[in-house]
Amino acid sequence: MEKIPIQVIQEGLVKLIVPDFSKYLRENGVYEPTWAPVFYNPQMKLNRDLSVAVVEAFSKSRKPVLIADILAGTGVRGIRFAVEINNISKVYINDKNPIAYEFMVKNIELNNVKNRVEAENLDANLMLRYHKFAGEIFDYIDIDPFGSPIEFIDSALASIKIGGMLGITATDTAVLEGKHANACIRKYFSKPVKAYFSKELAIRIMLASIVLRAASQELGVDVKLSYYDKYYVRAYIVLMKGARKADESLKKLGYVVFNKRSGEYFIVKDLSELFNIPHDKHYVIAGPIWCGNICEKEFLSKVSKVVMEREYLRYKELTKLLQMLNAELNMPPLYYNVDMLGKILKKPTPPLNSLIECLVSNGYKAVRVHCDPKGFKTDAPLEVVYECFRRLSS
Ligand SMILES: C[S@@+](CC[C@H](N)C(=O)[O-])C[C@H]1O[C@@H](n2cnc3c(N)ncnc32)[C@H](O)[C@@H]1O
Repeated sequence: MEKIPIQVIQEGLVKLIVPDFSKYLRENGVYEPTWAPVFYNPQMKLNRDLSVAVVEAFSKSRKPVLIADILAGTGVRGIRFAVEINNISKVYINDKNPIAYEFMVKNIELNNVKNRVEAENLDANLMLRYHKFAGEIFDYIDIDPFGSPIEFIDSALASIKIGGMLGITATDTAVLEGKHANACIRKYFSKPVKAYFSKELAIRIMLASIVLRAASQELGVDVKLSYYDKYYVRAYIVLMKGARKADESLKKLGYVVFNKRSGEYFIVKDLSELFNIPHDKHYVIAGPIWCGNICEKEFLSKVSKVVMEREYLRYKELTKLLQMLNAELNMPPLYYNVDMLGKILKKPTPPLNSLIECLVSNGYKAVRVHCDPKGFKTDAPLEVVYECFRRLSS
């Protein structure tokens, strides 16, 4: 570690030793975190800020919580939990990279949290199984990999307390959004489709895959908060015990039927419903996907309260994300993209706000979506969407 160029930065309420960004720049001058000997990505700060608010909201009603940050890099997230969350008993931070382990140890010292943070240098699955074998299971496990989280899910499900929470990131959005369909089927057991709602589909495919894996361990899944940002999907779920809970969660899976020519899409919960679809070669089917809510109203409001109470979390990008997720509550799954509708209808695209106003004035609900600046959700039938679109673009 002596030879690695480093710098000390501040994130949230902690100080951190991280690689010197200026030594790992691409030709265009942008820092490339995967080139550094230890991974730290400043662009994921919102992801970590929100995880602090989520775990604070989650842990308030529990006995002091035991946390595992199993893919910890510099240890930033786990150390932030230890410093910024009130009701912590202990945080384990783990990474298989021995250099990361050295950074974690130094960062624990720098923040004076030796009494409640412990660094480990193991394969993440082994780490979780080892703790379980020793009789220690967790209230919260954070899974923040490069790419897919799937290889860590089974161990995490086996090592979480009943009523405990998993925080899961997936950065393989090209897979989840249908650019590599076979990889999605292999990893997530779900067929994606390239469509204008692919970003939300990515969230719903990842959730479905976790529900299926949880069911195999007789666990049900309660989705508390999930979203798509920049180039990743993030979900916070709580696990419920028992075959009945697992079955209830499985009932919230379904399939999306998408007509590539007309832009129509709808959800079917039972495969037998597919027999009722008129024969049209433009229909494609994707799934299984999670068809339940992607955020829970009460939990979202608890998280928003934590964010509003803390000045360093109360910044525009984060508060806007939470407001948009709030607006999407109780709206149907998936969304339209106004530019794509323009292409389908071969008409100039009207301003999105005008389209939303038109739908609302026709008595329907319509809102922008958090994951796509040109996206909107509505409960209006497609004919009404097209009618508004045509009226506004003529
Ligand atoms: C995306 S980085 C984690 C970033 C970190 N959570 C943060 O917020 O800065 C993924 C980390 O997982 C580690 N890793 C990858 N596979 C692992 C495994 N099987 N067991 C333990 N660590 C692993 C890598 O060394 C890397 O540091």
